[in-house]
Amino acid sequence: MKSYIWTLPTRVFHWLFATSILLAFLTDDDNLLTYHAIIGYSIFILLGFRFFWGIAGPKYSRFSDFPLSIKALKEFLSNIFSHKEYAGHNPAASYVMIAMFVVTALTIISGVLTFGIQEGKGLLSFLNNSYYKEMEIFEEIHEFCSTLLIILIVAHIGGVLSDRLLKPETQTLNSIFTGYKTLNIVKNVKLNIFQKALGFLFLIIFILFLVFSFTNQGNLLLVSKYEPINYEKKNELFVSECASCHTLYPSKYLA
Ligand code: HEC
Repeated sequence: MKSYIWTLPTRVFHWLFATSILLAFLTDDDNLLTYHAIIGYSIFILLGFRFFWGIAGPKYSRFSDFPLSIKALKEFLSNIFSHKEYAGHNPAASYVMIAMFVVTALTIISGVLTFGIQEGKGLLSFLNNSYYKEMEIFEEIHEFCSTLLIILIVAHIGGVLSDRLLKPETQTLNSIFTGYKTLNIVKNVKLNIFQKALGFLFLIIFILFLVFSFTNQGNLLLVSKYEPINYEKKNELFVSECASCHTLYPSKYLA
C-alpha cells in the first residue's frame, strides 16, 4: 500500500546534497578552487539542515529512527532474502548514511583548513602566516576523506540497486523521487508547521548563500590575504620574455 515516507524537504535535501557533492568533485581543480570552496561551504549548510532534520524532522528522517543496533543489523542480514520491510532506512543503509554525513563534515573542515593554510584564502587564511603553511597534512586528510566519501557513495548506490533487485515491490528507489514506498501496512508522515518552516528556512539560506558567494567573491569565506599582482601592467616585456621561466617579478633587477 502506498505510504508517504520521504517528505519534500527530505527529497530536496537528498538531491541538492547529491548534486553539490558531484559538483564538488567536478570543481576539484586549481583553476576552479573558488567554486570548489563555495560548493564546500554550501554543502555545510545542507549538512546543518540535515542535522536539525535528524532531530526534529518527520519520523523516518530522524536519527532516532535509524536502526543502528548490532541486533538490528544482524536481523537485517539474516533476513536479506526474505521480505522484512523497513519503512525508513534499513540498518545497513543507516550506517552508510551516518558515515556519509560524518565524512562529508570532515571533508569540509579539512578543506577549509587546506584552503587557509596552503592557499592563504578564506576564514583560516591567517594560518598561512605561521609554520602551518608548510603542512600538507590537512590536504592529505581532505583527499583521504573525499576518497572515503566516494566509497560510501558507491556503497549507497550499491545498496539501493540491490534493494531494487531483492525487494522491488517496496519501490525504494522511486521513493526518493516521489516520496512514496509501497508497504504492507500503510505508514504516512505529515509535516507540522515547524518542520515546514525549518525546511523553507534552510532552502532560503542555501540559495542566498550561493547568490551572495557568486556575486561577492571577495567575501570573508573566500578572500585571499594576498593582493593579486598584475605583472603585465608592471612590465609587459618581462611577461613576454621572461615569465615562461620566472614566475616572480624581480623588482630589484627590473625597477
Ligand atoms: C628559459 C628559461 C628562462 C628565461 C626565458 C629567462 N630566464 Fe632568467 N634565469 C633562468 C634560470 C634557470 C636562472 C638561474 C636561476 C638560478 O641560478 O637559481 C635564471 C636567472 C636569472 C637571473 C639571476 C637571478 C639571481 O637570483 O641571481 C636574472 C636577473 C634573470 N634570470 C633575469 C631574466 C630576465 C630579465 C629574463 C627575461 C628577459 C629572463 N631571465 C628569462 C631561466 C630563464
